[in-house]
Amino acid sequence: MKYGRAVKISGTGMYVPPRVVTNDELAKLMDTSDEWIQQRSGIKERRYVDDDTSPTDLAEKACLAAMEKAGVTGADIDLLVVATLSPEHFFPGNSAFLQERLGMGTAPAMDVRCQCTGFLYALNVGELFVSSGQYERVLVVGVEIHSRGVEFATRGRDVAVLFGDGAGAVLLEPATEENQGFLSMRLHAQGKHADKLWVDAPGMAHAPTMITNDMLEEGMQFPKMDGRFVFKNAVTRMPEVIREGLAESNVSIDDVDFFLFHQANMRINEFVGSQLKVPPEKTYNNIQKYGNSSAASIPICLAECVDSGKIKRGDLVAMTGFGSGFTWGTALVRF
Ligand code: UT7
Repeated sequence: MKYGRAVKISGTGMYVPPRVVTNDELAKLMDTSDEWIQQRSGIKERRYVDDDTSPTDLAEKACLAAMEKAGVTGADIDLLVVATLSPEHFFPGNSAFLQERLGMGTAPAMDVRCQCTGFLYALNVGELFVSSGQYERVLVVGVEIHSRGVEFATRGRDVAVLFGDGAGAVLLEPATEENQGFLSMRLHAQGKHADKLWVDAPGMAHAPTMITNDMLEEGMQFPKMDGRFVFKNAVTRMPEVIREGLAESNVSIDDVDFFLFHQANMRINEFVGSQLKVPPEKTYNNIQKYGNSSAASIPICLAECVDSGKIKRGDLVAMTGFGSGFTWGTALVRF
C-alpha cells in the first residue's frame, strides 16, 4: 500500500448453520425446479438458520474461529467492523450485539452497509485503522440471514432461490513477514442503480410511517432484483476492478496465486474467470452448497481455502465482489 504500515490477515473463520435446504424443497413452496436453479445459478443447496439463531449467533461462531487461529480473545480486539444487510434489529447495528457477545469491553464497534461488497468495504476500513497505527487488532466479519427476508412464493422466486445464510470473519494485525500485506484495495459505488437490487421498505423514505399494511401486502419488504441487469453489470465491473487493482500494484494476472469471487452466480464467476484467463484451479466456488450469502460469501470462501490448504502463507490473493448499491471492489493481499 502507499500509506502506513503493512497489515496481515492473522486469522480466518467461517460458520454456516447445519440445516441444508435443497432446490427440491424450495420447489414445494414456489413454481421453480432443481433444473432451473442449477442451470441459471449453479446452486444445488443452501443453509438456513433455525428459529433460535440470530445474526449475532452466526457471526460469533465465525469470529471465534478466526480469533482462535490468531490466538486472541475478545479483550484483545481494538475494533469490530460488521458487514451485513441483515439487521438484527432496526437499530442499533449488529456490531453492538456482537461486541457485547465477544466480550470486547468498551472497544468500538460499527456496521458497514454495502451489501454483497460489504466485506470488502469493511476490510478496507479495518485495514486502514491498522495501517494508520490507531489500532493493533481489528476484527472484520460478514454475516447474513437471508432466509427470513426472502419471499417463499412464486412472486419472489427469482430472488428466494439464490440466497443462503452464513458468516465469515478475519482478524487484521500489523504484518510480521516481509512482503506480507495489502497491495491494493479498490472500491466503487454507483447509486443510480440502487433500485435494481433492493428492499424498499420498511424505510424512512415512506411517510407518514416506514411501513403500512398495504406495503406489506404489496411485498415491499422483500428484495427486488432486475436479474439480467445486475448480471450484466457484475460481469463488466468485476474484471474491470481486478485489472484496476493489478495495475495499481504493478502485478499481472499470472502473479496472482488465487482468486476469490463473491458467490452470486456460478455463471458470473465462470465468465469473469474466462475474461481474465484465470485457470480454474486458481479459483474456488462454494455457491453450489451455500447459495449467495452476500457480505459473508468472500470471507467464507477465504476461510475454507485457508483451512483446506488451497491458500497458503505467502500467496497473493485477489478477492472481488459486486452487489446492491451498486457497489463493487477488489482487495489484493499477500497472505
Ligand atoms: O449478489 C448480488 C448480485 N446478484 C447477482 O449478481 C445476481 C445476478 N443475476 C443473476 O444471477 C441471474 O439474472 C438470475 C439467476 C437471477 C436469473 O437468471 P436469468 O438467466 O437472467 O433469468 P431471467 O431473470 O431472465 O428469467 C428467465 C425466466 C423468466 O421467465 P420468462 O419471462 O422467460 O417466461 C423468469 O420469470 O425464468 C423465470 N424465473 C424462474 N423460473 C423458475 C425466474 N426465477 C425463476 C425460478 N424458477 N426461481
